Amino acid sequence: MATEDPQAQYFENNPAPKQLRKHEALVREFIEYHISTNPETRIVLVTSGGTTVPLENQTVRFIDNFSAGTRGATSAEYFVRAGYAVIFLHREYSLLPYSRHYSHSTNCFLDFMEGSAGGDVVVRQEYQMKMKQVLEEYQYAKKNRLLLMLPYVTVNEYLFELRSLATLLQPVGSRALFYLAAAVSDFFIPRDRMEEHKIQSSTVENGKKTGNGTQLVINLDPVPKFLSTLVHSWASRESMIVSFKLETDPNLLVSKAEQALHKYGHDLVIGNLLTTRKWEVVFVRTGEERWVRVPKAKRSRSVSGIEELVGRADKKKDAAKKDEVDLSGGEVREGMEIESLIVPELAALHEQRIRDSAAKA
Ligand code: PMT
Repeated sequence: MATEDPQAQYFENNPAPKQLRKHEALVREFIEYHISTNPETRIVLVTSGGTTVPLENQTVRFIDNFSAGTRGATSAEYFVRAGYAVIFLHREYSLLPYSRHYSHSTNCFLDFMEGSAGGDVVVRQEYQMKMKQVLEEYQYAKKNRLLLMLPYVTVNEYLFELRSLATLLQPVGSRALFYLAAAVSDFFIPRDRMEEHKIQSSTVENGKKTGNGTQLVINLDPVPKFLSTLVHSWASRESMIVSFKLETDPNLLVSKAEQALHKYGHDLVIGNLLTTRKWEVVFVRTGEERWVRVPKAKRSRSVSGIEELVGRADKKKDAAKKDEVDLSGGEVREGMEIESLIVPELAALHEQRIRDSAAKA
């Protein structure tokens, strides 16, 4: 019999992603490994990046959002440093922990290298120290199996993965932390209304003829809100759940975060504004609002959150203006990453939560 519950209906009416079973097996194995190696291990699920909304089943066009995955990828590194095993559920081709320092257009990895006198390719002197540190941290995470990377693309894939992962993390109880930094689409096209083939510009159905051609009119359904289901049904009641709230209007941020907290009944909402998200966030818990800020002097001016080069003043000014990194020489100064403040704060809250839960048992 068909269910009335929109969340359950969603999973009945939309197809499970092809990679789901494989991902479930990897997660099961990851959790078993860590529980058997160290029953005290804390495991965090970090969600990261945007989700797409395909317009066609054989997808040529899709709707996307701005998220680059900086918050999630950066946080994952700090979680490893804080002793967590990390499941990194991320939008495919968004930023990844460790490689993020050398990927994407603002920081092409080739610019970090040069030919040596002996004809070898080597890392340029000014980047040696930083790259050595990143490499060591990456190898540490790999060797100790502290990072499991699971990609998704569409909002549908994300939702199926989230449900499975939350269920699989149940045995981890209070040692599981959910850090939901992904920017999840609010609207989608249900499977039964999706075009199979590429929508033709000349034969758009529901389109209106205009002087310049044909308009495409798309009807999107709301994606059911899953946070409440995650908190009350998929995840263990013991686990700690942290969601993010993104707003563009500063006057709305705290009230919207509070609303989310009341509505979903989870532990913490981290609020951030689109324009200032790299250097300030607000932790909203029941009866508490606390801002976490990177001190002004330590802020990088790069929007992507990566290093800002300081050197010759004119080059620095030009690079900052263009939101680009100037790789033509000069000393490297790294701005403080706000995730270096967020993650230790969260780890402390989580620690307290684990102790409270043990005391109750
Ligand atoms: O990736 P960056 O460029 O670094 O940007 C990071 C970020 C700004 C995207 C991130 O810090 C952030 O704020 N993410 C949440 C964006 C948001 O406002 O989400 P939301 O209001 O649609 O959802 C609230 C929470 O519920 C989020 O934690 C989301 O992951 C989760 N959610 C939302 C909808 C849904 N159907 N299921 C969900 O789990």
